[in-house]
Amino acid sequence: MSSNKNTETVVIVGATGLVGSAIISTLERSHLPVDKLIPLASARSAGKSIRFRGAEYIVGGFDPAVFNSARWVFFSGKDGLSKDYCPVAANEGAWVIDNSGSFRMDPDCPLVVPEINLDAIGKEPGIIANPNCSTIQLAVVLAKIRDQYGLKRVIVSTYQSASGVGRDYLNELIKDSRTFLERGPGAVEKTSLAFNCHPAIGSKSENGRFGEETKLEKEVRKILNDENLKIIATAVRVPTMVGHGESVVVETESQARPDEFREILAGSEGVEVLDDFESQLFPTPRQTENTDPVWVGRIRSAGIFENDLAFWVVADNLLKGAALNAVQIAAALYNRGKM
Ligand SMILES: NC(=O)c1ccc[n+]([C@@H]2O[C@H](COP(=O)([O-])OP(=O)(O)OC[C@H]3O[C@@H](n4cnc5c(N)ncnc54)[C@H](OP(=O)(O)O)[C@@H]3O)[C@@H](O)[C@H]2O)c1
Repeated sequence: MSSNKNTETVVIVGATGLVGSAIISTLERSHLPVDKLIPLASARSAGKSIRFRGAEYIVGGFDPAVFNSARWVFFSGKDGLSKDYCPVAANEGAWVIDNSGSFRMDPDCPLVVPEINLDAIGKEPGIIANPNCSTIQLAVVLAKIRDQYGLKRVIVSTYQSASGVGRDYLNELIKDSRTFLERGPGAVEKTSLAFNCHPAIGSKSENGRFGEETKLEKEVRKILNDENLKIIATAVRVPTMVGHGESVVVETESQARPDEFREILAGSEGVEVLDDFESQLFPTPRQTENTDPVWVGRIRSAGIFENDLAFWVVADNLLKGAALNAVQIAAALYNRGKM
């Protein structure tokens, strides 16, 4: 364990990526004190400069030696990097908040959405897993349903944006879309996401699922601390840039009234309701890009179970789905004086 923790040093691994950049901008507007920022990336970005709270920082190549002085380490690089080096940073006595899938289902690592289960984090610094982007926004709303009505079953279909895969994939979608428009559909592979949808995200997983679906189902159970929750996810990649949408049907234990649920959500921190049936105003990924809340609309009874609700939920996958949730964890720990 290091004793060199006299300054508020923050390391960001993957600082030039979509999530890393969002962590920097979210930290900038947070109350977390940062004496020194150490942005790291791969060799291709080393030497670039980043502005943070009025100062300039040069991006370094990956170097685990910097963990020694760090109070906070945010991992938002490649998954393999997290797997190998989160334990190294934790051994140096840093609070490590990891955006990859490497530790989410590790029973020794808390998987945290601050509004729901901050108490899963112990007193000593260690690795805290930030949930998958599609998990966080769903869990925020499901926790409200569980607390008010009891939760029996969840059926969710996702509409996930290209930025969920990272900067290179987003750029590929933009390039393919331009080619499609300028040179016609024949100029773009039929498998491209441009003007298309992909109903299989991640690699083949168990029970006919793909990786993203298994993650979503298992992570929701872990966060809600309900191993027996019945949940089926169909995860679909759509050609939006930022913001994941989810269409959800839940079976509840007791009767859930849409009007009452709308009011509960409207009074919940971090949630915005946009649900105007008459004017057809509902949250869309583009409208909610660069905003912090989890947005909910289309709240109604499904009428397929004795007690149920249907709704639509959207959040910025780079903010509440990743960077904001991670910074909120750090800020909550800082407030708790746990360092
Ligand atoms: N995108 C999302 O919505 C989202 C949501 C939740 C979680 N996540 C997770 O967050 C992580 C980052 O995702 P992203 O979307 O930000 O990806 P991204 O845009 O592709 O960025 C990846 C970052 O990792 C850096 N990197 C790559 N190899 C590295 C190495 N060997 N050493 C140091 N840095 C290296 C890249 O640096 P260069 O600029 O030098 O290439 C870049 O800064 C992933 O684990 C992802 O699964 C993403």
